[in-house]
Amino acid sequence: MDMKKLAAILAEAGQSHVLQFWDQLSPEEQAEMSLDLESMNFMEINTFFKNAMKTSGQSSKEKVDSRMEPVPREVLGSVTRDHESLKEWEEEGLRCISENKVAVLLLAGGQGTRLGVPYPKGMYDVGLPSHKTLFQIQAERIRRLEQLVERQYSRKCCIPWYIMTSGRTMDMTKEFFSRHKYFGLKEDNVLFFQQGMLPAVDINGKIILEGKGKLSMAPDGNGGLYRALATQNIVKDMEKRGISYIHVYCVDNILVKVADPAFVGFCSLKGADCGAKVVEKNNPTEAVGVVCKVDGRYQVVEYSEITLTTAEKRSSDGRLMFNAGNIANHFFTLAFLKEIVSTHEPHLQHHVAQKKIPYVNTQGQLIKPDKPNGIKMEKFVFDIFQFAKTFVVYEVLREDEFSPLKNADSQDGKDNPTTARHALMSLHHRWILNAGGHFVDENGTPIPAIPRHGPAGTVTPEVSQNLKDGTDLPIKCEISPLVSYGGEGLENLVTGRAFLPTLVINESGVHELVKNGL
Ligand code: UD1
Repeated sequence: MDMKKLAAILAEAGQSHVLQFWDQLSPEEQAEMSLDLESMNFMEINTFFKNAMKTSGQSSKEKVDSRMEPVPREVLGSVTRDHESLKEWEEEGLRCISENKVAVLLLAGGQGTRLGVPYPKGMYDVGLPSHKTLFQIQAERIRRLEQLVERQYSRKCCIPWYIMTSGRTMDMTKEFFSRHKYFGLKEDNVLFFQQGMLPAVDINGKIILEGKGKLSMAPDGNGGLYRALATQNIVKDMEKRGISYIHVYCVDNILVKVADPAFVGFCSLKGADCGAKVVEKNNPTEAVGVVCKVDGRYQVVEYSEITLTTAEKRSSDGRLMFNAGNIANHFFTLAFLKEIVSTHEPHLQHHVAQKKIPYVNTQGQLIKPDKPNGIKMEKFVFDIFQFAKTFVVYEVLREDEFSPLKNADSQDGKDNPTTARHALMSLHHRWILNAGGHFVDENGTPIPAIPRHGPAGTVTPEVSQNLKDGTDLPIKCEISPLVSYGGEGLENLVTGRAFLPTLVINESGVHELVKNGL
């Protein structure tokens, strides 16, 4: 497109200021910038901004609070309260997987700003004995589940893995998977696609420049999924493969049960088109959204959108009234996703997040503001719950299924590599105990069955002291997902045996690293 035309488009959209340094750019920089600009629809961006500001103004915390209702018991399935149904749900999920009807979809387009690493979060090594990354752990859970189903049903099965990346994470993610040979999965069954990006704008909707020839761009939120599903032909691919059910999840939860048969089976048996997995929120200020009803429709009210007074409300049993903590694990039927993509996606409004956004001033100097100076516009993956005809909620135990990696390690920190590592090892410790094994110390004295660790997601002062001393808690023990998906199949390996930590169980056997001098 010639420059005059581009300038006219920008002028019409009130965004001419993005060209203020044009004459100072080299021909290469000019070429790059015009490519970026040509790919954008400025009128649409202006509309997104106007609508997002309107909605964010309307839905002030107080207004949302007064319209919130907790999830009713009849749509809730719980691994503890409905324990007797668990087997039936799991069988149904396994059956669906055996018929190749289940796909998983990973949301991995985020920038991992809080963790502070310059690469996608899935590539992070939380420091397990195996040094497996989050991507590898998830890939191996998929492989194991496929094997379990193949054994039970004596036929080949495949769980395709759709991975949503963004302009910031695509190349590194693809390169990582290719370097690691897709962690043993078939390359054809790991499908990458890219969500959209949007420019950051100031409070008047003017696009922010992060360089003289560069707009400040960010992914359009994990709800960017729905547009990307259509533009990247993912729905078509799912149809071609005969998929009916999709488990959508976030990259950062080290305990995620990818394609969880019990969750899929529960949703399928309830005839749901949309479902959310939750854990009980037990601390009013915990940074999780809550699944609830607003004006009679299901939605997630984010932790930033709820007032403390409402977050602290308790029911008569002493539990938090809004305790369905969203762990970003969702179930959708393909039919539902198709309807979203074709009908509702264009009408979903962006949420507004006020951020400190580095910008170049009129002199062309880069300024890093110390208070919010602009906004990012994002759609959220759960924005489509409101369109569900049959919505269900599935409650699981936090210690079994939720330990997200959000922050870098810091003393007494939360949701960081240490808490993620501890959560996984503590779960694996419990699997060993359940299968009839136990641990001893170097003197052969049995180690108490209940490991010392803080409330979920936290590092207690005791643990942090142990970290300083180099003695990591809880018991160091790691079971490869290729050996066990959810604690099954360990009896032959551990029953009646005493282990000296660090214990690693993988495809090549049972290894006590200290005993073996490793
Ligand atoms: C998310 C949930 C929150 C939940 C919490 C549990 C959303 C909007 N919020 O919050 O309700 O309680 O997880 O841990 O889902 N991502 C993209 N593209 C983007 C932005 C993010 O794919 O543009 C992905 C990230 O890679 C990550 C996931 O979405 O896998 C969640 O993003 P994050 O920003 O960490 O969400 P939270 O604020 O922690």
